[in-house]
Amino acid sequence: MLVNGREVLAWAVSRHCAAASFNTYDLALTRAIIAAAEAEDTPIFLAAGAGALDHAGFELLSAVVLAAAEQAAVPVAVHLDHATDPALVERAVAAGFSSIMVDGSVLAFEQNVALLQAARTAVGPWALEGELGGVGGSEDRASSQHSDVPLTDPDEAAAFAERTGIDSLAVAIGNAHGVYKGEPRLDLDRLAAIAAVSPVPLVLHGASGIPDGLIAACIERGVRKINVNTELRRAYFEQLAAGLAADAGRYDLPAVFGAAGASVATAARAFIRLFRDGVAGS
Ligand code: G3H
Ligand code: ZN
Repeated sequence: MLVNGREVLAWAVSRHCAAASFNTYDLALTRAIIAAAEAEDTPIFLAAGAGALDHAGFELLSAVVLAAAEQAAVPVAVHLDHATDPALVERAVAAGFSSIMVDGSVLAFEQNVALLQAARTAVGPWALEGELGGVGGSEDRASSQHSDVPLTDPDEAAAFAERTGIDSLAVAIGNAHGVYKGEPRLDLDRLAAIAAVSPVPLVLHGASGIPDGLIAACIERGVRKINVNTELRRAYFEQLAAGLAADAGRYDLPAVFGAAGASVATAARAFIRLFRDGVAGS
């Protein structure tokens, strides 16, 4: 069922675990993500980013994600990811999205606050996520880690959350979108310092490629929502490539795309278990 993102956050807070947020781009990924959540009987965020909505068309992709959430046997928050345009936020709220991230991380602190204060009014009772500091890399492509993005300043975190009224705060602690260049190095002391002062749950972006132990350390320090995109695309592409190679001119679309979706669901289930239980186990 479609629920307010606040409900999924509250679930994670009450269990001292993290809710998974998976990015979708199309019908096959959406069905795979929902199937994974249902198989694990666990609430999730189903996220569509601005790039995905551009790619698939806002009307079509929003209709798909909202219908999929409504039909799901588990609580699903439909999340607009990394929005920078207030017009897109208004459009998503009007369409029925139940969780919105407004990304003002490239702005100066006061501009970021002002952007989120305006978004708070536009988003109304639905969950609103802000970001302080920068998460490097590209949201829709497998770009590599940047080392020159500013990290979240714990001294700013409480004021940012209080002045904006956000429901969750995305942190920059060395995490990056896409494929990490070498081993990811996260500043766990900084994360603990942010968690100590933040009045709202913390969000970790760029989880693809972060080792399980480091994910568990982040959850231990207060991360309650974790975003995964690239690893699901990788599962999709790798199985699609294998399926196309094996298809041998049959053009068996349901078989090829069905297997790719199943591979995404398997990957998503492992993330859900890791974020919920601290271990991916089967
Ligand atoms: O907002 C989405 C994420 O931060 C996904 O990052 O592609 O590195 O998993 P990722
Ligand atoms: Zn992100």
